Amino acid sequence: MPITTCIFDAYGTLFDVNAAARRAASEPGQEALAAVWPQVARDWRAKQLQYTWLRAVADRHEDFWQVTQDGLDWAMEAAGLTDPALRKRLLDLYWELDAFPEVPAMLKSLKAKGISTGILSNGSPQMLDGAVRSAGIGAHLDAVLSVEDVQVFKPHDRVYDMVEAQFVCARDEVLFVSSNGWDAAGAAGYGFSTVWVNRAGEPMDRLYASPHHIMADLTRIPELI
Ligand code: LAC
Repeated sequence: MPITTCIFDAYGTLFDVNAAARRAASEPGQEALAAVWPQVARDWRAKQLQYTWLRAVADRHEDFWQVTQDGLDWAMEAAGLTDPALRKRLLDLYWELDAFPEVPAMLKSLKAKGISTGILSNGSPQMLDGAVRSAGIGAHLDAVLSVEDVQVFKPHDRVYDMVEAQFVCARDEVLFVSSNGWDAAGAAGYGFSTVWVNRAGEPMDRLYASPHHIMADLTRIPELI
């Protein structure tokens, strides 16, 4: 079936999750963070994701804002950072993450081709609303879907089911795009066509399915359709 619907993961795919720590580290008075920010960003993201998976298998859901705070607390403690004002600044910045530079033009080009577009994310509706507004991409998106509606995190099938429920389409009409290799693999196992945006040149996750396409960034997504 031809692709009619293009769905994007949010954090790491459209929005740069490292931007919060990078930006805070460049601000006056943040010398302690400046020395360790790449490690803080890496640990923050790794723990945030681990907590989503652990909460899903334990059936103890809390929203993504809670696991984002829990992941940051772990990362700050590991780096020996204890400043509550820094914690608040990093969390505030998470609501206005930079979109990757190619995102607006890429979404516009999909809309010009008549493709339905949307976000499907672990993020809470409020977090996603903040990120979409601050990136100014709302006009190019037909829907922003949050796992809060199904109360479990990716890669549970109930999350991917939300796409067919929102857009009247079959699984094989959906192109799902994620920079998280495990999310692209999960969506491929579910039955979507998938792109893994492998910006960091990471090895492929060894899971039950593999992404159909691998790209270095989002620029060429419209060409696939
Ligand atoms: C999301 C996470 C996985 O946006 O990045 O769903």
